[in-house]
Amino acid sequence: MNILTKSLTGLGLGAALTLTAGTALAAGGSGCGTFVNADGVEEHLACSTAPIDFTNKGSLQNGAKIFMNYCAGCHSAQYVRHSRIAEDLEIPPELVEKYLMVTTDQIGDHINAEIDPEVQAAWFGAPPPDLSLETRLRGDDWVYTYLLSFYEDPSRPWGANNLVLHNVAMPHVLHNMQEELSAEEFESEVGDLVNFMAWMGEPARHDRQVIGFFVILFLLVLLIPVYLLNKEFWKDVK
Ligand code: HEC
Repeated sequence: MNILTKSLTGLGLGAALTLTAGTALAAGGSGCGTFVNADGVEEHLACSTAPIDFTNKGSLQNGAKIFMNYCAGCHSAQYVRHSRIAEDLEIPPELVEKYLMVTTDQIGDHINAEIDPEVQAAWFGAPPPDLSLETRLRGDDWVYTYLLSFYEDPSRPWGANNLVLHNVAMPHVLHNMQEELSAEEFESEVGDLVNFMAWMGEPARHDRQVIGFFVILFLLVLLIPVYLLNKEFWKDVK
């Protein structure tokens, strides 16, 4: 990578490449952090793959339900409107108003945290960040692994710690859910939650991929007449 970066610096591409490498690292390119195992040896934690599927409306709807009930008390999602959830996730607005609007009574409002982040910073030692773009910042797999990596640690103020974010200030808010469900069921619920968070980060992601596919297909088909035309134009030029 370094050699490539150097040789391309002259073309002004170096900065872009270095940036890409940096983002890949931040997004979990180096795994999901490190932890010390029972023998005292430091090990890398591999990220688990989040089951992202925007065509699965059931999963997105369940994710929205979990997010609004378990996360929106502390975290805001300031770029997401409740009305957009109703529209994109195909949930009737009456149901959104009844079950998913926990912090406001106006469906056009953005998702605000129920409790002021400043007050929370004093309680927890760190303010809960806005989560609208969290999966873009950290990567889907990082967020998924993080949510699955809480463990009991009596030395922490809330009795829980996290393998991905050491000495995290966030309590293990899904603890009861984890106790009540089997390991697979819990992973599937967290998968739905991260699927919804990925949708919040970029609602048009699925459309972009579909459109991108057809654009490339169109360009490939266009290549045929362009190639033939090129042959035709140059055939008499020696
Ligand atoms: C009781 C308040 C509270 C609740 C409820 C809560 N969080 Fe947090 N969360 C926090 C705090 C405080 C932090 C900051 C942790 C730190 O920096 O150590 C945090 C951090 C995070 C981070 C890491 C951000 C980063 O990039 O460093 C993610 C991701 C996250 N929360 C997701 C969630 C999700 C998803 C839910 C719902 C299942 C949730 N949180 C519920 C308080 C909360």
